Amino acid sequence: MSELTVPSQATAPAAESGLMVQAEQVHKSFGHLEVLKGIDLEVRSGEVCCLLGPSGSGKSTFLRCINHLEKINAGRIRVDGELIGYREHGGKLHELRQKEVAAQRRSIGMVFQRFNLFPHMTALENVIEAPVRVKREPKAAARERAEALLARVGLGDKMGNYPGQLSGGQQQRVAIARALAMQPKLMLFDEPTSALDPELVGEVLDVMKDLARDGMTMIVVTHEIGFAREVGDSLVFMDGGVVVEQGNPREVIANPQHDRTKAFLAKVL
Ligand SMILES: Nc1ncnc2c1ncn2[C@@H]1O[C@H](COP(=O)(O)OP(=O)(O)OP(=O)(O)O)[C@@H](O)[C@H]1O
Ligand SMILES: [Mg+2]
Repeated sequence: MSELTVPSQATAPAAESGLMVQAEQVHKSFGHLEVLKGIDLEVRSGEVCCLLGPSGSGKSTFLRCINHLEKINAGRIRVDGELIGYREHGGKLHELRQKEVAAQRRSIGMVFQRFNLFPHMTALENVIEAPVRVKREPKAAARERAEALLARVGLGDKMGNYPGQLSGGQQQRVAIARALAMQPKLMLFDEPTSALDPELVGEVLDVMKDLARDGMTMIVVTHEIGFAREVGDSLVFMDGGVVVEQGNPREVIANPQHDRTKAFLAKVL
């Protein structure tokens, strides 16, 4: 069991604070390589936070820490007021058991660059799988919701297709429907469109916009500046394992304050 000491500092639950994600001084190292050097980040319920930064700045690592796919070395992360991955006792953090971590993960949906669908299952079966196997939902109810979700992402006519019979954009929309099938309170997107041909990017972004309009809390790692500007409530720019700059996306994009942000935006705009 791993332990780490944290400052004893009371943090209000999301219900009171309106915060869905609270990261405080998150540190993460791989061996001697310190990848996250004290990340502070807050996302309010119903907001879309866009996370930008150069390759290797620690964006994916940070997202993976939020659902405890990576263990943090110091700091703390709360989702909806609940400490992720650890239980606090006597000022120390004790790692949760596998089962408890799995329970926390169920409420956090994740969509990756590569869609990671089960190739031997149809789109519909992919979406039904976790609710039935993990949540033990009755198959008929899971199926009904899966059909509604696939229709919502514009794939009502492709439910019987296997991933190999779908375009990249369609596969990614199935992956989003699959994450939504678990009824998460938070969605994490790690460069969901960067493996797609340019003409397929729009259809995936449209699904994400629709989700945002519907009030889903989202953290989106993306290089799609247009999306960040249009849909983002906040923009966080990371470099070298620290948050360099954050604020209103339109303001940060139009008027970046730090040289590193300026240089990065100049490259991607
Ligand atoms: N499991 C691991 N073991 C060792 N080093 C790792 C591991 N995962 C990530 N790293 C290192 O941590 C650093 C940050 O990686 P990360 O994937 O978080 O960056 P990123 O900002 O998502 O980059 P990109 O834009 O290329 O996806 C990199 O130097 C990477 O090599
Ligand atoms: Mg990454």
